[in-house]
Amino acid sequence: MAQFADNRLPAHGLDADAVMSRLDEFSADDRDWRGGRVFSLVYSGGDDVLDLLTRASNRFSAENALNTMAFPSLGWMQHDIITITIGLLGGDRRPGGSAGVRGYLTSGGTESLLQATKTARDWGRGSRNITRPNMVLATSAHAAFSKASHYFDVECRRVPVTADGSADVGAMADVVDDDTVLVVGSAPSYPHGVIDPIGDLGALALDRGILCHVDACLGGFILPFLGTLGHVTKEWDLSVPGVTSISADLHKYGYASKGVSVILYGDHDLARLQPFITSDWLGGLYGSPSMAGTRPGGPIAAGWAVLHYLGEDGYLRLAGDAHRAASALRACIESTPGIALRGAPDATVFAFGGTTDADADDGLDTFALGDLLIERGGWYFDRQTPPDSLHATVHAGHAAVIEELCTDLTGAVADLAETGTRTADRSTNYGTV
Ligand SMILES: Cc1ncc(COP(=O)(O)O)c(C=O)c1O
Repeated sequence: MAQFADNRLPAHGLDADAVMSRLDEFSADDRDWRGGRVFSLVYSGGDDVLDLLTRASNRFSAENALNTMAFPSLGWMQHDIITITIGLLGGDRRPGGSAGVRGYLTSGGTESLLQATKTARDWGRGSRNITRPNMVLATSAHAAFSKASHYFDVECRRVPVTADGSADVGAMADVVDDDTVLVVGSAPSYPHGVIDPIGDLGALALDRGILCHVDACLGGFILPFLGTLGHVTKEWDLSVPGVTSISADLHKYGYASKGVSVILYGDHDLARLQPFITSDWLGGLYGSPSMAGTRPGGPIAAGWAVLHYLGEDGYLRLAGDAHRAASALRACIESTPGIALRGAPDATVFAFGGTTDADADDGLDTFALGDLLIERGGWYFDRQTPPDSLHATVHAGHAAVIEELCTDLTGAVADLAETGTRTADRSTNYGTV
């Protein structure tokens, strides 16, 4: 494994090429996402997209979106990204019209969900005098909501999902009380790729007079195109009655560089609760739309660039590629004895694993399967539990390799069935510290 030579600042600066070759050395053990071997963390729209992202990001690598009076370019790009996203996420099909829809860019899905939670807390405080707020969400809702709960002291009431992995709206309604400020749905959920019944969640929110956030961080930039292609028919966006905010990550299926997500609010007054503004110090007016102060220009420019480079036809093509690849992998899983999908996924994200309980002595060990796939072809799937599963985020970059993966997958399952190999390592690893 590559190691830092000395862990200290060099007394004399190195040659730029030498620095770059050290970076290449460090990456020697990184997973091969360029070759389509990684089913987690990276979304690849092709070499041409990567080249554009690199150029756009480099062009704005020094500029700071903290102050769009100094850098109006970054203000315009943000405005443009938000306006485009409003169109994609049903903002202009809202029952009450689109006039009140507002949005902000954040650094990623987690920051968008932190903001949605903080906004809901402040809304409850200001309009309902709620001092001990809670939010109600499925066990499948992203871990970032638990982080938000921890940061902002909003109790997180998680309710078990149904057998198909979907939010159980009836059970969620049972735990909503007078201190509930927010209900959450995912489109789709990270663990099992299921689009929750957003219509029912919106209706629940309307009925109780509370907020409803749709976490479309994962799906926001692919579901609109899968819908156009006829692959997704469920309702999930800001046009659904009762939905008050939605988040979508440009750095996932928008195929942008890391560091850009969008949060939209259906109502101007609600949106106004997000930014922080003060002049109570010696440095003058400090207005900030999200958690960070300094906000890098590179991801914003790259996000703007990829939207315009790909356009609608480009996103339709990539969504079609991702869907074909995901369908092929699903078909392979469904036709291979010994493994099965978890739940009933709706799009291009899902989890799979051994059909018998992983703890049973005679069952296929899902994590041993994951290890074997890495050993065989460098195929990298995140481990998740419960139950023991391998998690697949399938994107357009996988289309070229999916057949090879299916061959390795069926071979690995057959070998494990024969050898009964198990691993003592039961760790999971979606995020690390
Ligand atoms: C549904 C969902 N929400 C939120 C997030 C968090 O996004 P990020 O990793 O950009 O913070 C993810 C990440 O995969 C996700 O799948």
